[in-house]
Amino acid sequence: MTLRACVTGQPVTYSRSPLLHGYWLKAYGIDGAYEREEVPPETAADFYRSLAVRGYAGCNVTLPNKEIAFSVLDEADESAAALGAANTLWLEGGKLHGASTDGYGFIANLDASAPGWDGARNCALVVGAGGASRAVVHALVGRGFDRVVLANRTLERAETVASLFGPRVRPLAFDRIVEVMGEADILVNCTSLGMKGSDPLTLDLGRLRPEAVVSDIVYVPLMTPLLKAASAAGFRTVDGLGMLLHQGVPGFRRWFGVTPEVTPELRAVLVEDLRAKGQLEA
Ligand code: ATR
Repeated sequence: MTLRACVTGQPVTYSRSPLLHGYWLKAYGIDGAYEREEVPPETAADFYRSLAVRGYAGCNVTLPNKEIAFSVLDEADESAAALGAANTLWLEGGKLHGASTDGYGFIANLDASAPGWDGARNCALVVGAGGASRAVVHALVGRGFDRVVLANRTLERAETVASLFGPRVRPLAFDRIVEVMGEADILVNCTSLGMKGSDPLTLDLGRLRPEAVVSDIVYVPLMTPLLKAASAAGFRTVDGLGMLLHQGVPGFRRWFGVTPEVTPELRAVLVEDLRAKGQLEA
């Protein structure tokens, strides 16, 4: 029997998940399929409840359905429960399970691409307070950082996110970022700044400690202006593509029964797709 999974959301046209999971299905010789399902929020709850009837082993959930998906789960893992959102669903024992794997992907990518990135787990500086930021902050707290400083243009949004995670997460006004840069083991951009067509995130990177790692969750373009500047200044940098690749691992394992590897060959396939679409550079 062909095992089937899909990416759901609106829009799903631009999702790279079919490329990712399609690569692994072929690489491991699995009789499976990974499809796209355009699912508007109005019908999303019904769709997720009827995964089994539709012949799916599970699915990914992208915008704007992650909270809706969470709300229909029978079992939420710790990450989904903490974030109130799910991006990976699977059926197990007749129940609908869900996880949020972005934080896992973020950490696994850093572990693989920049060993020792977490330094003394002293201080992480996260810029941006949207949905992606929540997953990153949750993951950094889980990794054991003493302090996660969350800087955002709209301070209230940073305060709201920080309040979800306890005293180790401290909100900070955007214009005060310079005050903590010298303490950070890692700087993470979780804003949309630097995305193709947006203004860049410009920070005085000279204030960072030389061993600090600079990371961006944006991957279109792959080399964001922030990463370019950090790399030119001699910092270790980690781009957002690796997070995308790693966040797919738990879902693939649940649906298809194999824990897939994130290899240089896989990354090259995704990089080639970005290149073909003119998305490597800003
Ligand atoms: P997502 O859920 O994908 O993280 P989002 O909720 O739209 O996306 O969040 C985008 C983030 O980029 C926010 O932190 C936003 O800051 P505000 O909360 O102040 O809106 C940040 N952002 C977007 N444009 C920005 C800009 N020009 N300057 C500073 N921050 C910006």
